Amino acid sequence: MAKTGHSPFSRLVLLGAPGSGKGTQAARLAIELGVPAISTGEMLREAVAAGTELGGRVEAILESGALVDDETMAEVVAARLEQEDAAGGYLLDGYPRTLKQAAALESILAAQGNELDAVLFIDVPEAELVRRALARQRADDNEETIRKRLAVYREKTEPLVGHYREHGLLREIDGYRTIDEVSAAILGVLRSAA
Ligand code: AP5
Ligand code: MG
Repeated sequence: MAKTGHSPFSRLVLLGAPGSGKGTQAARLAIELGVPAISTGEMLREAVAAGTELGGRVEAILESGALVDDETMAEVVAARLEQEDAAGGYLLDGYPRTLKQAAALESILAAQGNELDAVLFIDVPEAELVRRALARQRADDNEETIRKRLAVYREKTEPLVGHYREHGLLREIDGYRTIDEVSAAILGVLRSAA
């Protein structure tokens, strides 16, 4: 696949439960596809670390494992997608996470005359998700927050799987394999669909 950012699959969403490997795979794919990986979770954690107004508003929400409201997220993502490096495409990691966010993303893209190329759903069993998060120990990785993030995922984010399947955009990846195997599977899916 060309590393020019002109791949037929340049506007991608990585969908999956917390700990499914979205961030890990987004970083690798970004290099392969020549487009930026955009992680809303990273952006929010950076805002907290920098002590911005946004960071102050979302800090307690991140710690609890709940979701930041859809309006705030739409503003954050719209502003990020306007930046020059996103003109040729991007990998969205952690957005959208609710059906409302999916609709908001559609509007943002439509206003630019663009549309999503594919949604990569990384599927991993729950016991493995908990194991990975506990092994990592990020600031928001205590067991209570992990359980809460998983429950929120099941309720709010999992419906996106059916949504994107209906729209013909969903590509399912078995994420319960080594990091290299998952990367190879994703590239295989993108190549075969190109
Ligand atoms: P966010 O940062 O997006 O966290 P998350 O999606 O809940 O989960 P992770 O980032 O932990 O998982 P990941 O899938 O990226 O996996 P990773 O590659 O890190 O969001 C954090 C918070 O921000 C949310 O709870 C919410 O409050 C807020 N937020 C963010 N976006 C929002 C939105 N759109 N709307 C509202 N609120 C939002 O891998 C996990 C670990 O497993 C790593 O240690 C990794 O090394 C390891 N690993 C990865 N792949 C493998 C593998 N194949 N085998 C073994 N280990 C692996
Ligand atoms: Mg992540």
